[in-house]
Amino acid sequence: MQSGALRLSFRFILPVALVWALLAYAVVPSVDNLTLRWFVRDLDARSQMLASALQEPVQEYLGQKSPKRIADLFDRTVQDQRLFAIAFCDVNGKLLYKTRTYPESLDCMESGWQQTLRQGMVSLPQGSVHVTESPLQAGGKYEGKLILVHDTSFIERRSADARKYVIALFAVLALIMSLLTILIAHFSLRGVLDALKDVLVGDAKHPARHGKPDSGSMQPLAGDLRALLYEYSVDKRAGDDSSRQWTPEKLRVLLREELAGDEVLVVSNREPYIHAQTATGLQVNRPASGLVTAVEPVMRACSGTWIAHGSGSGDRAAVDRNDRVKVPPARPSYTLRRVWLTKEEEQGFYYGFANEGLWPLCHIAHVRPVFRSTDWEKYVEVNQRFADAVVQEARTDDPVVLVQDYHFALLPRMVREALPKATIITFWHIPWPNPESFGICPWREEIIEGLLGSTILGFHTSYHCKNFLETVDRYLEARIEHDTSTISYGGKLTQVESYPISIAWPDADQAQPDIVTCRQQVRQELALPENHLLGLGVDRLDYTKGIIERFQAVERMLEQYPNLVGKFSLLQIAAPSRSSLDEYQNFEARVRNLAQRINKRFGSGVYAPILLRVEHHNAEQVNRLYRAADVCVVTSLHDGMNLVAKEFIAARDDERGVLVLSQFTGAARELHEALIVNPYHIEQSADALYRALTMPEIEQRERMRSMRSLVKDFNVYRWAGRMLLDAARLRQRERIMTKIRSHSRSSLRRVV
Ligand code: F6P
Repeated sequence: MQSGALRLSFRFILPVALVWALLAYAVVPSVDNLTLRWFVRDLDARSQMLASALQEPVQEYLGQKSPKRIADLFDRTVQDQRLFAIAFCDVNGKLLYKTRTYPESLDCMESGWQQTLRQGMVSLPQGSVHVTESPLQAGGKYEGKLILVHDTSFIERRSADARKYVIALFAVLALIMSLLTILIAHFSLRGVLDALKDVLVGDAKHPARHGKPDSGSMQPLAGDLRALLYEYSVDKRAGDDSSRQWTPEKLRVLLREELAGDEVLVVSNREPYIHAQTATGLQVNRPASGLVTAVEPVMRACSGTWIAHGSGSGDRAAVDRNDRVKVPPARPSYTLRRVWLTKEEEQGFYYGFANEGLWPLCHIAHVRPVFRSTDWEKYVEVNQRFADAVVQEARTDDPVVLVQDYHFALLPRMVREALPKATIITFWHIPWPNPESFGICPWREEIIEGLLGSTILGFHTSYHCKNFLETVDRYLEARIEHDTSTISYGGKLTQVESYPISIAWPDADQAQPDIVTCRQQVRQELALPENHLLGLGVDRLDYTKGIIERFQAVERMLEQYPNLVGKFSLLQIAAPSRSSLDEYQNFEARVRNLAQRINKRFGSGVYAPILLRVEHHNAEQVNRLYRAADVCVVTSLHDGMNLVAKEFIAARDDERGVLVLSQFTGAARELHEALIVNPYHIEQSADALYRALTMPEIEQRERMRSMRSLVKDFNVYRWAGRMLLDAARLRQRERIMTKIRSHSRSSLRRVV
């Protein structure tokens, strides 16, 4: 308040003081000088006129030697208001005639008076007078001089009047200047603040700039500032990433210290634990889901609540009256809150919109997406149901909400509306297609708007981020900052970033089954000879996984290398998935038929080159298979990440085994030591499979060691930690922007 008053008075007093100084030292003296010169010139002219008029009568009366008449003449003449006195001096400089008013001291203006005259002005004890001398000549002969003395007090009066007008004029000027200064300061301050706010925060009222620079003068400066901040945050993040060995404990500390709280809410469709009603009672299963594999260890580390669809036959029996159950069953560390869906809701939301619409839309696997209005309605309804559950479960008004996957594209905005201060981190586990492909979705704008309710929107790769930014650019009026990868929409910022998902690296003290034993047991169980070469595929039975192409590659390899017939088999674990959908039923039939055909062609007796197991395997069973296999084959036609590749690497502490990996997985961008293949190119995959089976041990070790060190460091805690760190920074930035906004509002109020 004090500084505001000071600023205000400064803005007012400074112009006034300046004007006053100008007035005192320049204007008033000049005005005085000017008026004096004007009046002196006027008096000179008057004196000349009077002197001329007096010439004749004075000469006449001199000739008549009539001093009385001269005295009368002079007295009559000084009746003039301004003429003060007259005198006549003869040729010898003797004062002959004068009026009574004539100052004695002037005498005949001899003896140095001339030097003291300034513009005819003489300073006398009774005040200043103006004196002129006019020679009197008769017939060309000098006969003396007339001295006319004018009163100059009227000049003083006029000067004083003029000074008054000038001062008044300048006072008005000073006032106008002061007001102008205040107004200019006010408007330029508001302009600066508006521009700053506009540029840094973005504004829904100024949409459609699409990352192009503003015409505002603040834009280049703010752009530089923002870029600098972004570089700084990237550097800082790199520093944070490298300085942290990401562990569950680090994640807990991060939550506490950077996000000022430990309340984490996860939302996903698939639940981490499914209770099944069996003849022997309730049985708990872990689903085949990359999402669950990744997020579950994070939840164990952070506690909190996981909200998911209760889809198991025994789920209702396992929960309390608030639909909650503590998990993991063996060592409970967080809460699972189940949301119930009717058959119709599950059909429209999960099978329909999510898996017949969005799933094929986002995966380029040449299966046409199907969009139905009825499915969309259910999708909206169920998203709202889950958003309500988030609000119910939140203990504070600013929880950290981790939204998982394409089932909940609308939920971030719904939660944002109910809990504006929440930190919403959405992770899209599947690829994001290019804008043309995404444009097929009839509700594309709603989907993107829903996602932009997030604080952070994560994808596995920067390629998917780029596709998303381009899609927003194409279909929404939002402001996109490509250099910082942020989108401003409806006055809110969303950071779009790539966070490659990963797995929890096994603890060093976690007992692992012996590799040799695993190899022997698995081969025994499969009725295979001891040294049988074993390839392994682990997938959900999904058309995006490239299972058909994988079988074709096996067939091609056996064609090309017949010496492997009878010595190699591919064990394909295929967890049943979305089996009520036609597309999945057809796919299963095609997979089974192809396996049969190849087995018929190359199999003999008990030998089958393709061992297809369409059934669920738990994590422990899969781990044994990873340790028993010679090669793991991942040939997805399109996959956000594919965690099977990383799980296989984590399982191979013997540094043996080879990974054959599709170039169309997110994992291929990290695991360069795998044998990378194009699954559509069957011969290439066949060659890679053969190369893997015949790779020298030393090469296997080199490749495996390098990939293990990467997956160990780039684990799932780092995935979650980086998102949480970025969220914390964005939260901080939002806080600063809020402060700037409120500060700019209050300073404007003060100025006004
Ligand atoms: O890839 C997306 C994803 O959600 C994975 O996380 C997971 O493997 C799979 O889909 C799960 O599918 P669903 O929950 O339909 O069985």
